[in-house]
Amino acid sequence: MKTIERDLVVLGGGPGGYTAAFRAADLGRSVTLVEKEPVLGGVCLNVGCIPSKTLLHYSEVIEETKEIADLGLHFPPPAIDLEKIRAHKAKVVKGLNDGIASLAKARKVEVIQGVGTLKGAHELLIGDDTAIQFKDLIIATGSRPARIPSIPYDDERVWDSTDALALNEVPKRLAIIGAGIIGLEMASIYHALGSEITIIEMLDSIIPPADKDLKAPLLKAIKGKYQIHLSTKVEEVAASEGELTLKLDNGHTIAADALLVAVGRKPNSDSLNLESAAVAVDRRGFIIVDEQLRTSAQHIFAIGDVTGDPMLAHRASAQAKVAAEAACREKSAFLPLGIPSVAYTRPEIAWVGLTETEAGERGIEYTKGTFPWQASSRAMSALAAVGVTKALFDKKTGRLIGAGICGKNAGELIAEALLALEMGAVSEDIALSIHAHPTLSETFAIAAELALGRATDMLNR
Ligand code: NAI
Repeated sequence: MKTIERDLVVLGGGPGGYTAAFRAADLGRSVTLVEKEPVLGGVCLNVGCIPSKTLLHYSEVIEETKEIADLGLHFPPPAIDLEKIRAHKAKVVKGLNDGIASLAKARKVEVIQGVGTLKGAHELLIGDDTAIQFKDLIIATGSRPARIPSIPYDDERVWDSTDALALNEVPKRLAIIGAGIIGLEMASIYHALGSEITIIEMLDSIIPPADKDLKAPLLKAIKGKYQIHLSTKVEEVAASEGELTLKLDNGHTIAADALLVAVGRKPNSDSLNLESAAVAVDRRGFIIVDEQLRTSAQHIFAIGDVTGDPMLAHRASAQAKVAAEAACREKSAFLPLGIPSVAYTRPEIAWVGLTETEAGERGIEYTKGTFPWQASSRAMSALAAVGVTKALFDKKTGRLIGAGICGKNAGELIAEALLALEMGAVSEDIALSIHAHPTLSETFAIAAELALGRATDMLNR
């Protein structure tokens, strides 16, 4: 075992880890980045957000060509070449991998491949050949798919999100446990490629954290396409040679050729030997951090999924900058007013700030403007009239406290609400900003007008 001395070490090379490494290097620290995989980018780039969005683009094109068929534009049914699709996905990922590697090189960030485990408060073991003694450490080890009992995980027809994104085959019948973001995005991809989809969700609604009225257009759109069992649990999955059989607690039995389990994620904190460095975790295993992302050990920071919900790449990279700056003794804190959530379904759902449920739980009185996209000229002309834009304003201050959008490009449109939220905008700020017509973005201004009772595009309540 060789021992080396280093200044600032980052453990984990996902969007949190590499961002922290780059920011700290730019602030003058000598940085070592330890990553178990041969490439940087983590789950998001390699087996998460980026491959899924690449595949979702295919499903978008397939669905659009189907929808326009009744409106005078016919295409032949798609001829699907899985090998080419996989090659394109790999090319997108590799281009981004290479970009990150060259940014690391240009910043003189040392990258070490290996699995790190703490040994005391100032030492990180990399496998059994190297010990790194560090001054500061930023932990960015992410998360992994959660597992539920009674599933034959060793059967290769049982998938997690990584297996689903590998796109090795398109099963005739795909069952999905969990109607969260992963379950629904994968359903979009495989449905467009030809799979029959059955979704089993234990709670009484899809995407549990989002408000019901935001989910209604999506639920309407997918109900005809997928079989959905809400408030249902899978009691048992039996694997026979020909198929998988799911026994549900509502009395139904589902036969499937593949099963995706997408029931949430767990923090990668259990194999780090955190106790040896006195780094505390909560009862779910998330590392406890303060607003500077400092753990209970003052020179050890933690960022991203390993610190809790929402487990999103953009939260990790925002935390990363704060942790790097705090480690460099800069005044920096992680105090966002909103972190947008986006489900890249068809239609998309995006929300930021407080949901109505959260505002209610906190006893905040609010006014609301809700604009249905059936009344939006741009949405109608773009065959996107299935949607809604909603804005919530604090009754006392008039400030925006939350917004949600369901519809085409909701993930892009929510950015305006995020900026308004962070800038402390009141409803007039949004309503009086002249939005281009016809655009989908003007639905947000009209929602603000509706909250003020001054809309002209619709009757005010
Ligand atoms: P999730 O937490 O979004 O959804 C899991 C769903 O499974 C929930 O609806 C839950 O009620 C259900 N569930 C849990 N146990 C169950 C059981 N035994 N039987 C039936 N249903 C059960 O988790 P998901 O979809 O696995 O995603 C994991 C993480 O990845 C999330 O934090 C998500 O935000 C993130 N992610 C974000 C994406 C994005 O930003 N577009 C895309 C994909 C994932």
